[in-house]
Amino acid sequence: MSLPVVDLDGTGIKTTTLGFGCATLFRAPDAAERLRLLHVAYEAGIRHFDVAPMYGLGRAESELGRFIRSHRSEVTVANKFGIRPTPAGRCFAYVQRPVRRILRSKPAVGAQVRAHSAAPSRLLYEKGGYDAVNAGRSLRQSLRRLRTDYVDLLLLHDPIPGSVRSAEIYAFLEDARSAGLIRSWGIAGAPEATLAAALSFSHVPVQQVRSHVFASSLSSIPEGSALITFGVISSPLARIIQHVRASAAIRERWYTATGPIAVIPKLRHPFSFARPFNRIALCVVLFGATRPPHIGAASAIAERSCRPSAAEQSDLDSFMSLVQAEFSRAS
Ligand SMILES: NC(=O)c1ccc[n+]([C@@H]2O[C@H](COP(=O)([O-])OP(=O)(O)OC[C@H]3O[C@@H](n4cnc5c(N)ncnc54)[C@H](OP(=O)(O)O)[C@@H]3O)[C@@H](O)[C@H]2O)c1
Repeated sequence: MSLPVVDLDGTGIKTTTLGFGCATLFRAPDAAERLRLLHVAYEAGIRHFDVAPMYGLGRAESELGRFIRSHRSEVTVANKFGIRPTPAGRCFAYVQRPVRRILRSKPAVGAQVRAHSAAPSRLLYEKGGYDAVNAGRSLRQSLRRLRTDYVDLLLLHDPIPGSVRSAEIYAFLEDARSAGLIRSWGIAGAPEATLAAALSFSHVPVQQVRSHVFASSLSSIPEGSALITFGVISSPLARIIQHVRASAAIRERWYTATGPIAVIPKLRHPFSFARPFNRIALCVVLFGATRPPHIGAASAIAERSCRPSAAEQSDLDSFMSLVQAEFSRAS
């Protein structure tokens, strides 16, 4: 499958409009299964992979590194710095597999753990080091784990506004670019925090921000920055499913408006949740999946997204109108 390619403006980087997230990948308990999902994504035409030192409690980089070894020149890799696993987190990484198996087989326990995950996450991850020394150390370690000489993008990971030593970070990133260790750089996180951090730089080539149909507008991101988005599916989907399940009357309304498929909205148009943002055709949309059919569906949608048929466009428009009408009614 051949996916549309986007030019990340001003960076010299061209890649597929659909990117695969390696954080979500770690919901799959086995390394072999994760490797298979990376292959499925590649076979589905995806050529952009998003990773970070914290993903998989430090294991995502090395697993992605193993996968990209034979594809390095064909794929782009975005990596980050600023959040890393603690020593306790790295130890926990080795027992992830049985723990994830248990959580998968007992969804109620998994939901409880996720609901209380803020406190344990402080034990598993540490945040900071938005300065040149720490950024340099993190990049060297990442390149070693990824078994590559360069990453295409290096992003400040969820920087805390005010904690970024922007002048020295800027000099470090530009030096790394000149040395060929990175091709470009940027900031990743929630739109407000990303924008706040970006204001301390004269120019940020790439901004990677959470965005979906219910999230605040991306219009505040300056036109000069290339855009990558994430968070497109999971949070709006959860909200829509909760809404549709709330009452028989709502289910009936959705059924009447869109037919039986849309009563379970997860089967339908996950990327339409990104549509209100008119720059969507110009950016990379990241997503995560642990089920191969979800990867195939995302890829098929991305392939058609630049040139939907009139019927698909009208179908998408009525789905989005329904979502907007239902949620303006609910709010
Ligand atoms: N600060 C940052 O830069 C930052 C922050 C968060 C995330 N990210 C990146 O973005 C990636 C994606 O994370 P996200 O938060 O944006 O997740 P997401 O893509 O919004 O949601 C992932 C979930 O969507 C489900 N899904 C995928 N395709 C689907 C379909 N066709 N129908 C129904 N469900 C579908 C997947 O289910 P299954 O697992 O069952 O397939 C998965 O659980 C991460 O892996 C990470 O790389 C970056």
